[in-house]
Amino acid sequence: MKVYAPTAEAIERAAAALREGELVAMPTETVYGLAADATNEAAVRRTFEVKGRPAENPLIVHGAALADFDEVVAEFSPEALRLAEAFWPGPLTLVLPRHPLLSPLVSGGLASVAVRCPAHPVAQALIRATGRPLTAPSANLFQGLSPTRVEHLSPEILAAVACALDGGPCAVGIESTVLDLTRLPARILRPGVLGSEALGSWVELSAETQSDAPRHASPGQYARHYAPRTPVRLVKRLRRDQPGLTFEPPQGPHQIQAPPDPEGYARALYETLFRLDAAGAESLYLQMPPERPEWEAVWDRLRRAAGEGA
Ligand code: TXA
Ligand code: MG
Repeated sequence: MKVYAPTAEAIERAAAALREGELVAMPTETVYGLAADATNEAAVRRTFEVKGRPAENPLIVHGAALADFDEVVAEFSPEALRLAEAFWPGPLTLVLPRHPLLSPLVSGGLASVAVRCPAHPVAQALIRATGRPLTAPSANLFQGLSPTRVEHLSPEILAAVACALDGGPCAVGIESTVLDLTRLPARILRPGVLGSEALGSWVELSAETQSDAPRHASPGQYARHYAPRTPVRLVKRLRRDQPGLTFEPPQGPHQIQAPPDPEGYARALYETLFRLDAAGAESLYLQMPPERPEWEAVWDRLRRAAGEGA
C-alpha cells in the first residue's frame, strides 16, 4: 500500500522521497498532482515519462510562498506581485519569465515558467518539508481525467510514485486558471474558477481568448483533454435511456443530477465522470450548462472532454 493519511510522519517520508528524486502524488485544492523536485532534472524527466506526456507540454512549479520561486522566476512584475498577494495560496497559475537556474525541461524549453502556490494544507506542508519547489502536473496519464480523490489515481500512477498522500476530495475540482503575464494585457490561457471578473480588477486582461491565439502560445492545451475513456457527447437534454449528467431529476439508472451552480458543478465534474466511466456505457451524455461567463471554465472542460476543444 502506498496511500497514506497525511500525518506529520507520512509527510516527512514523502518529502525525503522527493529529495531523493522520487515522485509523490499530492492533494491540492484543484486536483491531485504528480509532484517532483523541480530542481532535479532526472525527476522532472521521469514525470513526463510516467504521464506519457510530450516534452513540449510545460509543467507548473508549486511553491508554499513567493520566496520559493527565487530561483524559478527571473522577475515578478508589479502586476504579478499584486495578483500573488491577492490570490495565493489559491487556484491561480502565473506564467512569468523563467529563471536561468531553472532547467528548461520544466517548461518544455520555453523562456517562461508557470508557478502557483496551492492552498491545500497538505501540499503546503509537503513543499515546506521538502524545502524545494515542486513540479506537479495533474496526477493522471496524458489526456485522461484529472484525479480529484486519491481513489481516482490509476494503477500506473500508483506504481510510479513513492507514495500518495490522501488529502480527501479536492475543494475546487478543476485545474487552476493559467494567466500569461509575460506581456500586457495579460491573457487567460486556461480558464478556471477564478475568472476574468475576479482577475480583471487586478490586471488588464486581453479580450483575446486562447482559441484566437497562435498555437504555440500555450502548449499543452489540446482539443481532446480531461477526457474519460467513454466517448462524451454534449446535448441539450438527456433522453431517459442516456447515461450521463443532467440538470434535471435523473430518469435512468446511470443519470446523475448536476449541481446547478458553476462552483458546485466544477467540484463534482471529474468525480462524476470517473463514476460514469466505470459504468461501462457506450457513450456519456452531458447536458449543456448555461452559456454564461461564470460557466466558462466548466464549458472549457466539457468541450475538451467531448474532444471539441479549441
Ligand atoms: O490546478 C492545477 O494547475 C494542477 C494542480 C496539480 O496544481 N496542475 C495542472 O498541471 O493542471 P498540468 O501539468 O496538468 O497543466 C499545466 C498546463 C500546461 O498544459 C499548459 O497548458 C500550462 O499549464 N502551462 C504551463 N507552463 C506554461 C508556460 N510556460 N506557458 C504557457 N502555458 C503553460
Ligand atoms: Mg493536466
